[in-house]
Amino acid sequence: MGFIQYETDGFVGILTIDRPKALNALNSEVLADLDAAIDAIDLDAVRALIITGSGDKSFVAGADIGEMSTLTKAQGEEFGKKGNDVFRKLETLPIPVIAAVNGFALGGGCELSLSCDIRICSENAVFGQPETGLGITPGFGGTQRLARTIGVGMAKQLIYTAKNIKADEAYRIGLVNNVYPVEQLMDEAKKLASTIAANAPISVRASKKAINDGLQVDIDKAIEIEEKLFGSCFESEDQIEGMANFLRKKDDPAKVKHVAFKNA
Ligand code: CAA
Repeated sequence: MGFIQYETDGFVGILTIDRPKALNALNSEVLADLDAAIDAIDLDAVRALIITGSGDKSFVAGADIGEMSTLTKAQGEEFGKKGNDVFRKLETLPIPVIAAVNGFALGGGCELSLSCDIRICSENAVFGQPETGLGITPGFGGTQRLARTIGVGMAKQLIYTAKNIKADEAYRIGLVNNVYPVEQLMDEAKKLASTIAANAPISVRASKKAINDGLQVDIDKAIEIEEKLFGSCFESEDQIEGMANFLRKKDDPAKVKHVAFKNA
């Protein structure tokens, strides 16, 4: 696909935003390709997805400033919706998504990483929401997801000041879970994705849904969401075999075996 590369490695999908000449900035075409690439992921075969940027300098340097520079109010809103629709699709993808942030993650790039479940980055990563310095607000979910991820006060500071932060600061404020040397980032992302992929897919998916949906409602409704999803795992092959294996282990450690979870 034009601006997206996609490959699989075992149960792990790797999606690369590929517009290196513009530091992988998101124009309408890149967004359309990303949308189509997400739709094309075989969710029966892939259990975790990694998103990264091509080249060694940038994850995504934001929405395309050239394209945005001449938009009318209505077109601006439409462009925001285009990005939001794709990012929401990613956020609600049934499988976990890891952002492997390999450089600039500015504006729409930071927002793309925020629509992923987990963010890890390389030591050269730079995060920021520079929009107020460009005369706009963050437009692909940044005003909402940044506050939900790192807290309201720190999100407001980053957005109002439009100041970029480096990887160590992103780690300190909880924007990323880990920082790695550049050359290790993809290996670490794959290791993390493979660890997730080794667990029961229905449980991982149900956990993602419970966390995401539960955060949108009050605690009583949230607990009910968990109960339903918890219940939905029972009678599955993975639940029956996963628990039987634990009981065998207790009975006789020699009977320990690796459970090859399916999707059932
Ligand atoms: N849009 C369009 N083109 C971009 C871009 C962007 N967001 N970011 C970088 N590019 C292009 C540059 O124009 C340049 O193209 P040319 O070679 O054709 O001139 C190329 O990528 C390389 O960029 P630089 O020469 O600027 O590279 P640098 O290493 O000197 O600087 C940078 C890197 C600090 C990331 C700088 O490019 C930069 O500040 N980019 C803009 C970052 C930004 O403001 N992003 C937020 C956009 S607004 C947004 O995203 C709104 C939203 O929420 C939806």
